[in-house]
Amino acid sequence: MNVNQRLIVTGGAGFIGANLVHYLLEQGGFDQLVVVDKLTYAGNKRYIEDALNHPNVSFVQADIADMSAMQKLFSEVKPTGVYHLAAESHVDRSITGPGEFIQTNIVGTFVLLECARALHQSGERIRFLHVSTDEVFGELESDDGFFVEDTPYNPSSPYSASKASSDHIVRAYHRTYGLDVVLTNCSNNFGPYQYPEKLIPVIIRNIRDRKPLPVYGEGLNIRDWLYVEDHCSALFTVFNKGETGRSYNVGTNNEWRNIDLVKLLCKLVDEELGTKDSEGLITFVKDRPGHDLRYAIDASRLKDELGWEAGTKFEHTMRFTVRWYLENLEKIWEM
Ligand SMILES: NC(=O)c1ccc[n+]([C@@H]2O[C@H](COP(=O)([O-])OP(=O)(O)OC[C@H]3O[C@@H](n4cnc5c(N)ncnc54)[C@H](O)[C@@H]3O)[C@@H](O)[C@H]2O)c1
Repeated sequence: MNVNQRLIVTGGAGFIGANLVHYLLEQGGFDQLVVVDKLTYAGNKRYIEDALNHPNVSFVQADIADMSAMQKLFSEVKPTGVYHLAAESHVDRSITGPGEFIQTNIVGTFVLLECARALHQSGERIRFLHVSTDEVFGELESDDGFFVEDTPYNPSSPYSASKASSDHIVRAYHRTYGLDVVLTNCSNNFGPYQYPEKLIPVIIRNIRDRKPLPVYGEGLNIRDWLYVEDHCSALFTVFNKGETGRSYNVGTNNEWRNIDLVKLLCKLVDEELGTKDSEGLITFVKDRPGHDLRYAIDASRLKDELGWEAGTKFEHTMRFTVRWYLENLEKIWEM
């Protein structure tokens, strides 16, 4: 276990970041953990309110693209590690308003790298874990195999293009300045604390409210679903054991067509609430422009080289997730 770690988690009040903060607290082994988050619509301090009571955990509300705020933070904390998750993350929003994606995902990552580089060049130890997405690889056909770490980048949306750009800049800081970086590219996450604009919480809420269940196109797009806690354990593994400069794909070979996933959610919510025939609420809507058909991850590097295994089972975690949203939609988001 690492000791004398001072960690910064960017985006720690968002979906994956909040789960990661809880996970890191369970693992222990750090002296200080600072959550940095701008608190956009997707961030919420309520997700981590228990964690913020811990004496070694603190919160800074700031924009990662604000150079002077980040310089001040890095010179005060002198982090030994950065888990970088802050991002604009919703593809649909990137289509209607790409500017924020360029600013946060590209400029924000650059600012953090500059702060990390300054520490590195003054002789301090610092590792930078950049959390990215499988969407940088573009789309696969149904029978196209899987993304591996060396698959060429071919992003489709302003979101995935901004993430791809930031991945390249992170790698360049390793090659050019010797900064100790590791990268992860993971598939779609599900679990608690995801803002109810993404597929799974939207569908659960709409089933509960007996509203139409919007499904893009004919629902044939395929996504590889990863439970967020498994993602957190993968990030922890890569941060602690990953080879410097190297990328690791994170996934669990759990591909679902959107329509099948929505039908599964109908069944699970019907079982929880005693409602019936929720599949009748499914409504096909005009497809998203540039909608990638399939993403699928080959995570064998992470398993073979670092010994990572997912610790959860989909049938348990998806039922848990459904129950969690039914209990918390009102409490957290007043929906
Ligand atoms: N959710 C997924 O399925 C998924 C899959 C692959 C990769 N990722 C990546 O994981 C990371 C986290 O994703 P998420 O789903 O938790 O996102 P999210 O949208 O739920 O949370 C993002 C967090 O970043 C914060 N933030 C946004 N702009 C900021 C800024 N300029 N400065 C500081 N904080 C800012 C928000 O307030 C929010 O708390 C992202 O980098 C995303 O690209 C997510």
